[in-house]
Amino acid sequence: MPPRRRRLAPSLLSADFADLAGAIREAEAGGAEAFHLDVMDGHFVPNLSFGPALVKAVRARTRLPLDVHLMIDRPARYVRAFAEAGGDTLVFHLETSDPPGEVIAAVKAAGRAVGAAIRPETPFDAVRPLLPRLDELLVMSVHPGFSGQRFLPEALPKLDAARAAAAELGAPLEIAIDGGIDATTAGPAARAGATFFVCGNSVYGAGDVGENLRRLRAAVDGGAE
Ligand code: DX5
Ligand code: ZN
Repeated sequence: MPPRRRRLAPSLLSADFADLAGAIREAEAGGAEAFHLDVMDGHFVPNLSFGPALVKAVRARTRLPLDVHLMIDRPARYVRAFAEAGGDTLVFHLETSDPPGEVIAAVKAAGRAVGAAIRPETPFDAVRPLLPRLDELLVMSVHPGFSGQRFLPEALPKLDAARAAAAELGAPLEIAIDGGIDATTAGPAARAGATFFVCGNSVYGAGDVGENLRRLRAAVDGGAE
C-alpha cells in the first residue's frame, strides 16, 4: 500500500467563533486539508462547545472534509443529525456507554466514514479489535475538553502500534493525533505514524494562520522523513 498523504486539520474550537467564515478562508488559503470540529456536551467532557447547527454552517462555507469529533455521551443518538449536517467522518469515543459496534453500524448506515477516539488513559489494545471496521483512529494526546494543553508523549507508542496493526491488516486506516500538536510535536507524531494532524492553538492561537500552517507542514514533512 502506498504511504498515506499526511493532512493538516485545523480545529475550529480555537478559532474566533464570531468569524468562522474568515477562519475557514484563512486556513484554506494556507493549505489546510480538512477541518476538525469538536463537539462537547458538558457530560462526557467538562465543557460545552457546539452541535449540528454549527457543523451545517461550516459545511456551507467549505468543501474540505469535516472531521467531527464527538466528545459526547450516547453518540449513537446523534449520528444522523451530524451526518445530515454534513460531517464526512464521525468520530466517537470508545469510552462512552454506547456499544461501539452499534455506533459504527449507525455511522455506516448514515453513509459516513467512522472513527473511534481514545483518551490518554485508554490503551491501544482496547480499540485494536475494532480496527477492521474503522476508517479512522483518533489518538488523544491531551485530556479531551479544551484546546491549548500540553502534548502528552504517551500518545506516541499508540500511533506506532496503530500503524503496525493497520499494515498487518492491509487496512487504509487514517491515524489522527489530537491535542498539543505544534511545530515541535508534529514531527515526532509523524515519525510515530500519524497521518492526520489536528491543530488548534498552533493554527489559530497567535500569529498568521498561513504562516502557522507552513511551519506545521514543514514539521510534519521533516518528521516523516
Ligand atoms: C480537545 C480537542 C482538540 C483541541 C485541540 O478536547 O479534541 O481537538 O481543539 O486543540 P490544541 O491543538 O490547541 O491542543
Ligand atoms: Zn478534537
